Amino acid sequence: MALIELNKVSKTYRIDGLELTAFSAESLQINTGEFVCIAGPSGSGKTTLLNLIGAIDLPTAGSVSVSGRVTNGISPAESAQMRLDHIGFIFQSYNLIPVLTAYENVEYVLLLKGASAEERKSRVMAALDSVGLREMMKKLPKEMSGGQQQRVAVARAIVASPPIVIADEPTANLDSATGRELVNLLHRLNQNRGTTFVFSSHDPMVIERADRILTLRDGRIVDDRICPEGCTI
Ligand SMILES: Nc1ncnc2c1ncn2[C@@H]1O[C@H](COP(=O)(O)OP(=O)(O)O)[C@@H](O)[C@H]1O
Ligand SMILES: [Mg+2]
Repeated sequence: MALIELNKVSKTYRIDGLELTAFSAESLQINTGEFVCIAGPSGSGKTTLLNLIGAIDLPTAGSVSVSGRVTNGISPAESAQMRLDHIGFIFQSYNLIPVLTAYENVEYVLLLKGASAEERKSRVMAALDSVGLREMMKKLPKEMSGGQQQRVAVARAIVASPPIVIADEPTANLDSATGRELVNLLHRLNQNRGTTFVFSSHDPMVIERADRILTLRDGRIVDDRICPEGCTI
């Protein structure tokens, strides 16, 4: 069974009596260890797909399964637990807690999971090391650059070693050189830890770093390219 499986999925919204299909797919499978980019113009359904995979949203029809667990019909508490156990999230606007230091932002996930003080310390330091930010651990988000803040968010996403990391346009607020560095960092983490990454972007320089590109248009997958040697677009 694939790590992520979508079957006959659709997500529709009803606005003023009109039905809009934000995303639909007959089937989609993503396997452990893949480094997948969801590409496509604004409004094509990238966020909708990522939110379905991340159990932030439930499908209107069909099924989504993550690590063998189907998200349909689960309660908000169950989906929160599933996110905590299986998925790390990275957002476009970093979403760090402004009053917490880099260290504390990363540690927060482990507090939610009830990890011991000793385990928290070793995991947070290892995560900060893997994004090259050990020396910034006492800084507040406002004392760091955008690229550094996003690396803290990456450390937070991987600190509990989830099998899947989801990143919705993680480079959209970064300049292009910093954006490229960030996607290279994600790729290194994918290679070194075997973590599955599913991220979205509409920046060609970021998209072509992926090993698989799913292109969306008007809520549908119009292209699915696997290129483990790196995609050129
Ligand atoms: N909560 C919502 N209510 C109504 N329409 C929505 C909602 N979320 C997304 N949509 C619509 O679904 C489509 C896909 O949106 P989205 O997944 O955000 O695309 P992208 O991330 O590629 O920009 C768009 O037409 C958008 O307006
Ligand atoms: Mg979006």
